Amino acid sequence: MIVVRKAERDSRVFALAYASYSTVDAPNLDLEGIATHASAKNASLGITGYLCYDHGVFFQYLEGEQKAVLGLMDVIEKDTRHDVINKVMLGEHEQRIFPDWSMRHLNRSDLRRVDLENVLEHSLFHMDPKLYGHDNIVALIRALVANIAARQAQLKVV
Ligand SMILES: Cc1cc2nc3c(=O)[nH]c(=O)nc-3n(C[C@H](O)[C@H](O)[C@H](O)COP(=O)(O)O)c2cc1C
Repeated sequence: MIVVRKAERDSRVFALAYASYSTVDAPNLDLEGIATHASAKNASLGITGYLCYDHGVFFQYLEGEQKAVLGLMDVIEKDTRHDVINKVMLGEHEQRIFPDWSMRHLNRSDLRRVDLENVLEHSLFHMDPKLYGHDNIVALIRALVANIAARQAQLKVV
């Protein structure tokens, strides 16, 4: 009998990313509360990724088992604290890019620390599917995510 180890069974992960506008003013937006709750719930769902917020705009990257990610996205989309504008399916990876981040909130100083403060804005400007093909958008988000992943070690030093 061939025994498939759990790590091998789980090795393919599905990823998606979205951008949304916050419907709540920055002073009333409990970002740390959202991130802390998300992190705890994602840990139980086996979902990892990161969440950025800047000037009224969220960007979130989610990875995990496809059903779990799509199910969570349904919940997140119904959240009245934001309006999801652009949701992009990134397909499958061989393995997780952020295995240690059940939902890392990357704030402006995190991004500044690794010189990425303009990356989010830059990517959002290029995400209109009417102007850019789906493949270009996926390639752009993958580049953004790879940039952050390459600097995970730096970002852990808070
Ligand atoms: C920008 C944004 C990102 C969110 N990300 C997550 C997330 O990654 N995981 C999560 O469980 N909830 C996330 N939420 C919260 C969900 O929309 C929802 O409120 C929460 O999952 C409900 O949790 P409950 O089942 O414990 O009531 C997010 C909300 C917002 C506004």
